[in-house]
Amino acid sequence: MPKRIFIVDTDTASDDAVALVMALRHPDVDVVAVTVVAGNVPLPEAVQNALYTVELCGLAGRVPVYAGCDAPLARELRTAQFVHGQDGLGDIGLSLTGREPTPGHAVDVLVDQINGRPPGTVTLVTLGPLTNIARAIQRDPGIATRLGEIVTMGGTADAVGNMTAAAEFNIWVDPEAAAIVFGAGARLTMVGWDISRRYAVIDAADAARLRAVGPLGAFAVDIQATLTDFVMAETHLAGFDLPDPIAMAVAIDPSIATRVERLNVRVETTGEITAGQTVVDHLGVEHLSPNVDVVLEASRERFIALLHETHRWA
Ligand code: RIB
Ligand code: CA
Repeated sequence: MPKRIFIVDTDTASDDAVALVMALRHPDVDVVAVTVVAGNVPLPEAVQNALYTVELCGLAGRVPVYAGCDAPLARELRTAQFVHGQDGLGDIGLSLTGREPTPGHAVDVLVDQINGRPPGTVTLVTLGPLTNIARAIQRDPGIATRLGEIVTMGGTADAVGNMTAAAEFNIWVDPEAAAIVFGAGARLTMVGWDISRRYAVIDAADAARLRAVGPLGAFAVDIQATLTDFVMAETHLAGFDLPDPIAMAVAIDPSIATRVERLNVRVETTGEITAGQTVVDHLGVEHLSPNVDVVLEASRERFIALLHETHRWA
């Protein structure tokens, strides 16, 4: 069975790094490129964090990491360093400087990689704002339908936001980019923050079990230090949640998404208080064409099993 070809686009902070480990270490997945975008942290930090994570998986120099867009299409960059730490990986003192990305811009790499492979063979997993993807589609609209699929961690299917009352961070940072991607005709699966909040919360007992699988499990837990503080103070979940990892789990094993509906989803770009909201027409009342496979339920048990399986390393 040939490996599945993945490109992972990331704004590499503490949950992104766990999702990267899952893809990099899964035996059925070949990550041919990691493309980096500004979001959780400024682009330089996101690039260093991605390089650190690839090195941690023993793949330095074998999985290329490319720097991409350092700001949204039409807005100032607003980071989430208050959530993930100034360095993005929990400010726990990791050595996160001095690594060199592969030469080339992420947007060019996205276009070239997708056009350079047979149609339908590339899975693009997005873990951050959609700036790189939107720029690539602007450069070559054909890539949207040449891709096998896009699995995006972004938005919410229940309109409960984590950055504003209505918007999830990845979409909120660059709503214009998200509107381009959601409207480009790609086969798009949306794993919203509602899925993370309901099926990917890691409490203290879960964290202890994950730490126990080995050094990568300990890494996955320890870098969530500042995220845990944010969750306790702001989102009041029972522990840190892992939005990017559960989106990656769905990309790796689509059966982990136990209920999916094809719905019309649009992105609010002009709302004074709703900019960045993913407007999901659950009832079809607008009679618009469905454009997104929206994950509505997932298997926590199978997500946790995959998380442990990919982090287990002597
Ligand atoms: O809202 C959660 C998303 O925003 C995750 O991708 C997290 O890493 C941040 O980018
Ligand atoms: Ca992310």
